[in-house]
Amino acid sequence: MKLVTCGLPYANGKLHVGHLRTYVPADVYVRYLRLMGEKVVFICGSDCHGTPIVVNAEKEGLKPQELVDKYHEHFKRVFKALNVEFDFFGKTTESYHHERTREFVKKLAENGYIYKKEIELAYCENCNMFLPDRYVEGICPYCKTPARGDECDQGCGRHLEPGEILEPKCKICGNKAVFRKQMHYFFKLTAFQDFLEEYLSNLSGTENALNYARQWIGNLKDWCITRNLDWGVRFPLDESLVLYVWVDAPIGYISFTEKATDDWRKIWLEGKAEIIHFIGLDIAYHHCIFWPAMLKGANYALPSAVIASGMVKIEGKNLSKSRGYVVWVEDEYLKAGFNPDYLRYYLVNYTSHDKDLNFSWDVFREKVNNEIIATFGNFLFRILSFVWKNFGVVSMEVDREILSKIEETKNKIVNAIKKWEFKSASDAVMELASFGNVYFQNSKPWELLKSDKAKTMKVVANCLQIVKALLILSYPIMPKSMEKVAGTIGINLGNCSIDDVLKVDEKIEVKKPDLPFKKIENEEIEPLKKAIQEKFCEKNESEVSIEEFRKMDFRVGKIVSAQKIEGSKKLMKLVVDIGSEKRQIVAGIAESYSPEELIGKLVVVLANLKPAKLMGVESRSMILAVDVEGKPILLTPEREVKPGEKVK
Ligand code: MSP
Ligand code: ZN
Repeated sequence: MKLVTCGLPYANGKLHVGHLRTYVPADVYVRYLRLMGEKVVFICGSDCHGTPIVVNAEKEGLKPQELVDKYHEHFKRVFKALNVEFDFFGKTTESYHHERTREFVKKLAENGYIYKKEIELAYCENCNMFLPDRYVEGICPYCKTPARGDECDQGCGRHLEPGEILEPKCKICGNKAVFRKQMHYFFKLTAFQDFLEEYLSNLSGTENALNYARQWIGNLKDWCITRNLDWGVRFPLDESLVLYVWVDAPIGYISFTEKATDDWRKIWLEGKAEIIHFIGLDIAYHHCIFWPAMLKGANYALPSAVIASGMVKIEGKNLSKSRGYVVWVEDEYLKAGFNPDYLRYYLVNYTSHDKDLNFSWDVFREKVNNEIIATFGNFLFRILSFVWKNFGVVSMEVDREILSKIEETKNKIVNAIKKWEFKSASDAVMELASFGNVYFQNSKPWELLKSDKAKTMKVVANCLQIVKALLILSYPIMPKSMEKVAGTIGINLGNCSIDDVLKVDEKIEVKKPDLPFKKIENEEIEPLKKAIQEKFCEKNESEVSIEEFRKMDFRVGKIVSAQKIEGSKKLMKLVVDIGSEKRQIVAGIAESYSPEELIGKLVVVLANLKPAKLMGVESRSMILAVDVEGKPILLTPEREVKPGEKVK
């Protein structure tokens, strides 16, 4: 038995194409496993707690519960439209989930993995509250970029613990926050170092996730698991606090399994099933480090595989809702009336699962028109209409070469699926369709028909067996379209097993076929391409945010030595005192200044510029100058200041 789960969508916004890279391949995987005769439980649900939901609900004028209910319904609708069929799709606000979570956390405490400690937390004296996670913004202590309370989202990507953020500001009123002491509770993640090392060396799944997680093992820190908030699962050891959302969310995998099947104990307590998590690489740390340690600490069964997809990009850029690089599944894709199977195919076939995937409307159109329609759909429709017109019923007699080609395809697919290589599986399907096209073309049944009807029937039977195999083998990827076609030859795909591709029926009756797919015209995608461009242009690229400006470390520097670089007319090698240190800088100022007049001069330096080499000499900053007809004139402070003073 296998349990397959998907990263729970955060009930704070609509689904975009990026999210689907977790859900569609997982659904394809589950469908193939079932086709191969495996017993599978497939679950997911809405992740409903945490500060972003409280903050957004306030913004939308809704109660947190109303907000999550709204998105929960949205998720169910979109998954249905895309034929992503979970056995159970739960919600972490439900009481069964709260009960399971509290039970779990009590066990962790009982086993000695939770301790309390007084910590200093950001507190807003204006709003009279502690500022958990998204309620606070400030500067990342590691990379010094502006960051959110729980994550350095624009810089190094690190998870931030409560109290870690520098220069905290209240997100509600904008006031500077102060630090206040409060008792919080910690999960002893550091106690699991040896366990995790061993566990990660056996964990199966995609290499990207495993490599990412292994990097962190030497760097574990205990996690603060409680928050000052009303919204969330109450912490059983102190009911005035709630649990951090990343504690209760993964426990949803257990509570939803309880709802989905009576076998849940076998799966989560007795370890009698394979537990397989599908996620995006962005949440690999939580699933490969934090979650297995929690499970181990509370005596639950451990996941056997983590399948992490690469991230989805839109038109070549990182997906970004705020910058407009996003494609909304319901409002854009589904509303435009595209076949959901086209997107399913794109998501599994564009590249291998662990690589980044670019969604581009032009590539989408080309893939659909050339692969799904010109190769695959064309073969199905040509055969079915030929048979329907000329035979109606075909006595099936299939050549051995045809069956062995089908068997080869089947084996390729089975092997690919076992290794989560969805691209290889879908390529094998397309390759069989191409094979069919070539066979049909070379056998010329339309000519043969004039002289030898019996021989033609044999050709046609071979083609029909390929059609049947194609329907069965591509059903997991394109369920809706394949079901439609299957009706014309009277097979019920829901009842098929993968071995049926080699079973030869006595007869096949073909009804009048419909075109299985509709081509995508350029006009259909033009408005969608434009929408991305327009959304992007609204955010005028030439504007710089104050955060971006603040990233630049401009300082006053004092030139301590200067020397011309041999072989260059313009370049000068300087050593500049920037307060904290003396920096070597190469500057193109030799035509305007002599070394002597530079020494002792105050200049403005961009101290955090990436180092570079000019004429083989390392330069570790840049000095600012005005360019007058190609001759630089240095900027200098108007009064004497100390080297290292910040320029703002
Ligand atoms: N709520 C958490 C998961 C908790 S699991 C116990 C979360 N939610 S999410 O809504 O942000 O993401 C849902 C799924 O979509 C996750 O598997 C995530 O990795 C995936 N993706 C979200 N954006 C993505 C891309 N741009 N590209 C690929 N996958 C992405 O994370
Ligand atoms: Zn405030």
